Amino acid sequence: MTRRRDLAHLPGTFGYPIIGHTLHFAQDAERWATEAYRDHGRIYKSHFMFEPVVVFADPDAAKQVLLDRTETFSSTYGWEPTIGKLFARGLMLRDFDDHRFHRKIMQAAFRSEVMAGYLDLMQPLIDGAVGEWRGRSRIDFYDEVKKITLNIASTVFVGLPLGDDAAWMNRRFMDAVNASVAPVRWELPRTAFRRGMEARRELERFFGDLVPQRRTSDGDDMLTRLCHAESEDGDRFADDEIVDHMIFLLLAAHDTTTSTMATMAWELATQPGLQDAVREEVAALPGGRFSWDERDALPLMDGVFREAMRLHPPVPFIPRRLMKDARVAGVPVPEGTMISVATLLIHRLPELWPDPLTFDPGRYAPGREEHKTHSHGYIPFGGGAHTCIGMHFAGHMAKAVMSDVLMRYRLVALPGQQIQIQTVPIPKPRGGLPLLLEPVG
Ligand code: HEM
Repeated sequence: MTRRRDLAHLPGTFGYPIIGHTLHFAQDAERWATEAYRDHGRIYKSHFMFEPVVVFADPDAAKQVLLDRTETFSSTYGWEPTIGKLFARGLMLRDFDDHRFHRKIMQAAFRSEVMAGYLDLMQPLIDGAVGEWRGRSRIDFYDEVKKITLNIASTVFVGLPLGDDAAWMNRRFMDAVNASVAPVRWELPRTAFRRGMEARRELERFFGDLVPQRRTSDGDDMLTRLCHAESEDGDRFADDEIVDHMIFLLLAAHDTTTSTMATMAWELATQPGLQDAVREEVAALPGGRFSWDERDALPLMDGVFREAMRLHPPVPFIPRRLMKDARVAGVPVPEGTMISVATLLIHRLPELWPDPLTFDPGRYAPGREEHKTHSHGYIPFGGGAHTCIGMHFAGHMAKAVMSDVLMRYRLVALPGQQIQIQTVPIPKPRGGLPLLLEPVG
């Protein structure tokens, strides 16, 4: 582990002994990171999760780190302190040759013709859940959408019908997720971490039993796809690898998309003109429905989706650990150092994004294309070898849910409503997202 004095050449502060800025970060990462950027600039040292960290709010650094042409930056050891044990051996927890080998196989479960099947599986779930809001004048949008994404996890990812098994799986999965941010990292009695590790072991057994069945059956769900997945070189996953990948995929897909849809809903609820315009766009689709064939037919909705992830990126900081000494964006950083690509800050750099705090879905439209000012100025899905494999899945899910919602209801903010976003580990409105619903048409 890098010592504080090894980073003496960098601006920034380490905070308290041992815990550094961990508490500031947990309480209000957005404010803390923004103030540090204001005081120290695009590259600064800090200290959280028990060790010194170098933060890069710099698109050139993002490019160097994420493209990683010299195999210097480890994703495995970058993510290890938070999710390493609970989501062990998931795709993001692998590096270099081993990662490439696994990614090539997994790619088969994300090909475009396969994606259409996922969308077909998820549409009835979305219809059912959003339809059930009828008669309610107020919902907690965050909670309701989280239920939808959990049901999508059990049905589309694992191929379970809604019912007891799916509910059990979702509960155990949430135990594992909650443990990844628990302050105590040992399996002590009655700790969230222990509950999470027990949940992981139970999920391993559960998926382990399903894999042999799915090897010999057909189905459009992701687990079955992984069981049949084969790379162009003819490689396939072993049973235990499928289990590890499945547990990680649930994590990767779930809170990230919930967070994005919550941001979209809030912005639409507070900008009724924008909401009407997006609704008109959806209404112009055949049957007023989002579908695979119409995936490029919602440019304004797409702008809202992208802008939600710009202002509140679901992965606000991307961690890596240096496997050797390197100069990162011109700055010497010693082997073993933890670094953090601050997507949150890069997405708000005024040099790249005019009026950066304004929610403006037109930024991505032809003629403006602010996301192209720098190749790594807009990185909600990361970049390079670890670029999110589910990015298209996420876009389709968000657009399918939001289209369904907007065709049935007008989303209205409560009088005088303000929200506060808790930024880490994945942005969510503190205390939920209560919104009023008015029937449309
Ligand atoms: C809005 C939603 C999502 C966002 C913003 C998002 C963001 C990201 C980011 C930033 C990374 C790269 C992290 C790194 O480089 O360390 C990543 C990786 C990954 N994501 Fe997503 N994600 C989303 C949804 C999904 C979904 C729906 C799935 C699966 C269906 C998924 C599966 C994965 C996987 C497997 C990886 C690891 C890829 C690799 O290491 O090769 N993600 N995601």
